[in-house]
Amino acid sequence: MRTIFAGNSICVNKIIVAIDGYSSCGKSTLAKALAKQLGYAYVDSGAMYRAVTLYLLRHGISPENPAAVAEALDHIAIHFERHAGGNRTFLNGEDVEEAIRDMSVSDWVSPVAAIPAVRRAMVKQQQAMGRRRGIVMDGRDIGTVVFPDAELKLFIIAETDERVRRRFLELQQRGMESSRETVRYNLLERDRIDSTRADSPLRQADDALVIDNTHLTPDEQLEKALEMVRQRV
Ligand code: DC
Repeated sequence: MRTIFAGNSICVNKIIVAIDGYSSCGKSTLAKALAKQLGYAYVDSGAMYRAVTLYLLRHGISPENPAAVAEALDHIAIHFERHAGGNRTFLNGEDVEEAIRDMSVSDWVSPVAAIPAVRRAMVKQQQAMGRRRGIVMDGRDIGTVVFPDAELKLFIIAETDERVRRRFLELQQRGMESSRETVRYNLLERDRIDSTRADSPLRQADDALVIDNTHLTPDEQLEKALEMVRQRV
């Protein structure tokens, strides 16, 4: 298992910003904008779990067979590339940025992410990416497990109806067929699995600051987060 992030630069004042929260709460939107403003690297840790899930689905490996999943990890190489339109995720050299957003992947990613061998492999790669700091990473365990020493930890929340609305819109914009009911079910089911799994469940770190973005625009949310960064740097 190998993950490479090209183009991270070093600066003495750079910090780590860890962003966690439930599915489709706006973490990635904030993390991307924040990284751009700060000139930091952005890592979508969920994309890594999605890429592993895509590999398993394509190879007919059951997520309910942890031994087979652990063995498959040796054949999986994930890397990110920065493109004009944003980061793209690569699985064994193939651009899978669109494929990993498919509902079939969304349906299986939480059980896959609950497998300890998968988590160990991902966390190791994520920690390596943050070694030089200057990184914004979003996910479920970033402030609690991946970077417990992050200078700024944010926990993002938004009302469920609003999260469903955003996710449904996102899928529509990507041309992916789905119903609101399917989106709601998938979202709540992932929240349930992610927050109740035995290995590093999703939870708010004790020292995380909460942003409720239900009634905030992306710009308002970014401004709040930038103010928090300014207080830390
Ligand atoms: O952020 P996302 O919805 O693309 O993440 C997909 C899944 O990956 C999510 O349901 C749980 C898992 N995940 C995780 O367990 N730990 C992370 N740090 C990031 C994602």
